[in-house]
Amino acid sequence: MDRKILIVGNWKMNLNVSQASLLVQRLHERIKIHRGVEIVLAPTMLTLQPVSTEIDRRKFRLSAQDAYSKDEGAYTGQVSFAMLRDLVSYCIIGHSERRIYFNETLDTVKEKVSAAVRNEITPIICIGETKIERQSGETKQVLHDQLTTAIADLTSSEIDNIVIAYEPVWAISTFGGEIAKPNDIKDIINFIRDQISHLYGLGTAKRIRVLYGGSVDDNTVTSYLEIPGCDGALVGGASLNYHKFSGIVDKASLVYQKSKIRIK
Ligand code: 13P
Repeated sequence: MDRKILIVGNWKMNLNVSQASLLVQRLHERIKIHRGVEIVLAPTMLTLQPVSTEIDRRKFRLSAQDAYSKDEGAYTGQVSFAMLRDLVSYCIIGHSERRIYFNETLDTVKEKVSAAVRNEITPIICIGETKIERQSGETKQVLHDQLTTAIADLTSSEIDNIVIAYEPVWAISTFGGEIAKPNDIKDIINFIRDQISHLYGLGTAKRIRVLYGGSVDDNTVTSYLEIPGCDGALVGGASLNYHKFSGIVDKASLVYQKSKIRIK
C-alpha cells in the first residue's frame, strides 16, 4: 500500500454541539497521530464549525455530509460548497440516504460533484445498489450509472482528486446491515476501477481512492482493508462510539504497517 488509508466517520444526523464536542475530546485522548492513516470526521452542518475549532489538524480533517450545488442565492435552507471551502477538505456526496430519503437523482449528484471540485473540496462519491437491485442482478448496471454520471463533467485532471465509496445499501446498518463478504467487495472495487480505466485510463484508475462502507466496525474493518485496491472505510454507526472508532483507526494503522513490511 503506497498511500495512506482513509478512514471517514459519517456521524449522519447525530450529536448536538455539546455531544459532538465530547466525542471529539474522547477521540483526541484515544487516537494518536498515525503516519499511515488519514482520519476524517463528518459531523452535521451545525456542528462543523465548533468541531473545526476543537480538532487537532495533525490528527483529523473534516468533511461535510452534503451541500448544495449552487454557490449562493435564494435557496432557502441550503449551504453551498463555496461556503464550506475553508472549513472542510471533503464532502460526502450521493449517500444512499440522500438518494432514498431526499430523492437525489443521478443529475443532482453530478452537479454536486462538480460544485465540490470547483470549490476545491474533495468529493467522496457514494455509490451502492439496494437489496432488490442486487437480487435482480442489476448491481453492476446500477453502479455503472451512478459512477459514470457522477463524474461525467470532470476533466481528466480533476478526476484524480475524488474518492469513491462503495456502500451497498443492504450492508448499511440502518438498512439491514448484512455483512458483505470481502471477496464480493473485491470484485466490485475491481469493477469500479475498470470503469474509471475505461473512461480515464489505467493510471487514473489506479490513483483514485476507493473506500468500502457498510457496517464497518473494529471487528470487521481489517478484512475490508486487506482487500487489494481498498483504500479505506466509510464508517457510520461505529464512528459515534469512540472505543470502536479508535479501534478502527488502530486496525487501519496495523494494516498499513503490515503492507509496508510486505513491500520491503
Ligand atoms: P454503518 O456503518 O452504520 O452501516 O453506515 C454506513 C454508512 O452509511 C456510512 O456512510
